[in-house]
Amino acid sequence: MDYQFIKVELSDGIAIVTIDRQEALNALNSEVLSSLHKVFYELAKESNLKAVILTGAGKSFVAGADIKEMTDYNPVQARAFSLRGQSIFNQIEDFPKPVIAAVNGFALGGGCELAMSCDFRIASDKAKLGQPEVNLGVTPGFGGTQRLARLVGRSIAKYLLFTGEIIKADRALQIGLVDEVIEAEKLMERCMEIAKIIAKKGSISVSYCKRAINKGIEIDLNTALGYEAELFAETFATFDQKEGMKAFAEKREAQFKGE
Ligand code: CAA
Repeated sequence: MDYQFIKVELSDGIAIVTIDRQEALNALNSEVLSSLHKVFYELAKESNLKAVILTGAGKSFVAGADIKEMTDYNPVQARAFSLRGQSIFNQIEDFPKPVIAAVNGFALGGGCELAMSCDFRIASDKAKLGQPEVNLGVTPGFGGTQRLARLVGRSIAKYLLFTGEIIKADRALQIGLVDEVIEAEKLMERCMEIAKIIAKKGSISVSYCKRAINKGIEIDLNTALGYEAELFAETFATFDQKEGMKAFAEKREAQFKGE
C-alpha cells in the first residue's frame, strides 16, 4: 500500500506506517493528513491486523503541522484545518487495534499531538518532544491542549505549552509523555517486539480493553464500570474466550482466532 508521503508495510498482522516527507521533517500538510486518514481507513478493513506501529522517516517523527501551509490562513480556514486534524487523530485514537508511536526524532506541535493520539509512545533516545506553538503566536490545534493535560497533568502541560520548551526523551519519560526510551538503533525492534506480544493475544479482548479505557476515562466511574461489564460479557460470546480458558485448564498456549 502506497500513499502520498506515507509508506505502509504489512506483514504477520503488524503494519508499519511511516510518514515520509523528509524535506519538511515530515510536517503535516493537507496531503499528509489526507493520506493518514486513508491509511487508517484502509487498515481498519484488514481482518488479520493485530497492531500498528506509526513512525517517521529520517531524523523526525513529525515536526508539526505545516507552518508554511498555514501562514496565510484566515480564521475560517484555520478552524477547518484544526477540525480536520482533530478528526484524523480521533480516528487513530479510536482505531480498533493498538497503535504504537515509534517516536524516532522531532515530535513537535502536531507531531507530539499525533504521538499522543496513539496508545503508547516508545521514544528513541534522540527524540525531542514539545508543543512550541506559542513561538508562532498560535495554540496547538490538533488536540495538544487536551491530550497533553490528560497525559501529564495540567500543570506540566501548562508549563510546556506556555514556554514552548522542547524536551528530550528522558524528560518526556519522567513526566509520562512517553512510556519507554530506547537506543535509536533498537527503536523499531522494540516496537515490533511489543506488537508481536500483542499479536499473540485474543485480538477482540485487546480491542475491547482499548475501547473500555478510551471511553471509560472520559466518563464517570460507575457508568464506565457498567461499560466494562458489557464488554466483559461480550467476550464470552467469542471463540477466543472459550479457547483461552480451555487452554489454561489444559496447560497449553491458547490459539486465538480473533473470533
Ligand atoms: N512546517 C513546515 N516546514 C517545516 C516544519 C513545519 N512544522 N518543520 C520543519 N520544516 C522544514 C523547514 O522549513 C526546512 O525546510 P527548508 O529546508 O525548505 O528551509 C526543513 O523542514 C528542515 O528544517 P530545519 O532547517 O528547520 O531543520 P533543523 O534541524 O535546523 O530544525 C526543528 C529542526 C527544530 C524541528 C525546526 O525545523 C522547527 O522548529 N520546526 C518547526 C517546529 C514547530 O514549530 N512545530 C509546530 C508547528 S504548529 C502546529 O503543529 C500547530 C498544531 O497543533 C496544528
